[in-house]
Amino acid sequence: EDEELLTSRPPVVTIMGHVDHGKTTLLDQLRHTRVTEGEAGGITQHIGAYQVEIEGKPITFLDTPGHEAFTTMRARGADITDITIIVVAANDGVMPQTIEAINHAKAANVPIIVAINKVDLPEANPDRVMQELSEYGLIPEAWGGDTIFVQISAKYNQNIDELLEMILLVAEVEELTANSNRLAVGTVIEARLDKAQGATATLLVQQGTLRIGDPIVVGNSYGKVRTMLNDNGRRIRSAGPATPVEITGLNDAPQAGDLFVVFEDEKSARMAGEERAQRAQLEQRDTKKKVTLDNLFE
Ligand code: GTP
Ligand code: NA
Ligand code: MG
Repeated sequence: EDEELLTSRPPVVTIMGHVDHGKTTLLDQLRHTRVTEGEAGGITQHIGAYQVEIEGKPITFLDTPGHEAFTTMRARGADITDITIIVVAANDGVMPQTIEAINHAKAANVPIIVAINKVDLPEANPDRVMQELSEYGLIPEAWGGDTIFVQISAKYNQNIDELLEMILLVAEVEELTANSNRLAVGTVIEARLDKAQGATATLLVQQGTLRIGDPIVVGNSYGKVRTMLNDNGRRIRSAGPATPVEITGLNDAPQAGDLFVVFEDEKSARMAGEERAQRAQLEQRDTKKKVTLDNLFE
């Protein structure tokens, strides 16, 4: 990229942690909405992507249903996260999925901020959490390490502003930039086939600006951006770097972790899209063939 065209962009933050440690409650508190209440059984059903603005500075959050989506995206080469918040409930301490989260973040070389949650509970023991995490190399600054720890209560809105300030601090150090003056590229966060709307995809724009009418190839699908909604469900006409949007206009639903690319004209997008779909079909056939041959030798 031409350095002159690069401008700073919002950080993309993933919240990870063990089941029920308060990931959704934290996002909820950030958005001042009630995501948890609307969910079946209080379990996150899909990946959401939201933008929160702090003193005029936007932060993009991804809510993952677990680590599987993160792993899938990484396996597909889509490292879309700039910062990982690892939520640890202060009454529960470090659990298996906490360790998994640490390993994912380390493997992706993403800076970690630890949010010790539920400090409002009488049985909360933040010191124990810090002790346990030190064994995994996450040593608090107060103990001579360089990991940022913030003690919060997602439920009662304690220290959430401090956590956000820490995110912005880390983002500043990371010097996150992007070029908004080019054709958009980015990653699929989630996608589905909607009866009324057809294929709908939540995309994270990573470079460039995505616009209504853009010819686009998304994974093995293609089309033209017909409608574009922001994270509040409002219709928008363009979206710059680190912005999550939901679009329609694709011939088929792509998969989470797929990359998208905007083309100069519709014809090249269609040709590239058809070629990719064909190749995917051939690959699928090959896999099936292999399975059949393997079966013959069993
Ligand atoms: P999964 O998506 O299922 O992995 O869970 P999660 O990590 O998103 O946890 P969730 O936000 O659903 O919270 C689990 C439970 O902990 C809920 O009953 C929340 O009300 C409660 N909880 C979350 N944060 C706090 C907190 O700061 N204090 C207290 N006391 N309870 C909390
Ligand atoms: Na939960
Ligand atoms: Mg959740």
